Amino acid sequence: MKFFIDTADVSAIRKANEMGLVDGVTTNPTLIKKAGRDHEETIREISSFITGPISVETLSLTAEGMLKEADEYLKWGNNIVIKVVMTPEGMKAVKELSKRGIKTNVTLCFTAMQALIAAKAGATYISPFVGRLDDISQYGMDLIRQIRGIYDNYEFETEVLVASVRHPIHILEAAEIGADVVTVPPSTLMQLFNHPLTDSGIKAFLEDAKAFAKG
Ligand code: E4P
Repeated sequence: MKFFIDTADVSAIRKANEMGLVDGVTTNPTLIKKAGRDHEETIREISSFITGPISVETLSLTAEGMLKEADEYLKWGNNIVIKVVMTPEGMKAVKELSKRGIKTNVTLCFTAMQALIAAKAGATYISPFVGRLDDISQYGMDLIRQIRGIYDNYEFETEVLVASVRHPIHILEAAEIGADVVTVPPSTLMQLFNHPLTDSGIKAFLEDAKAFAKG
């Protein structure tokens, strides 16, 4: 399972990348706003050191507008993926971009039928938002299970990219189900390291090493 990092914070991406944990990056308008920097400058900087796919979200609500934005975003790096919202206009854009060999990420997916539509349009990635479903008392991971099953039934190549990840259990279940990618906020990524037995084990080893360590 690939790990994408879900942020536009360049220093957080660098830190995760140093640990070999960045197979790609996802951004959205909220994350760009949070990073507080110019959109183009931020994406160009990420693209200068990340070789994996970087999703950049279109803002237009028409296919024509999305395609224009895609032309612009593609100049910002050689690994840009065009992120498009799950709408009829969005799917028109995905179909055209896919025909041109350009990678796409369909975002704001909340049902298996939306995922089926995105795959039929030729999306490279589908982004089901598990955390936002949990927020409204629907099991987000059930959606991942459904999409995995449907894509496998028909051998769709669209990759299941688990988005809106809020905690390590989302990542554990994504891996158990066989999702292709999870996109993880930096703070959740760091939570994956934690275990009290690891901490107490390190402490005990260092204590015991005092008995033979030189200097
Ligand atoms: C990533 O592609 C999504 O935009 C992101 O994971 C959404 O996360 P949120 O629901 O925490 O805003």
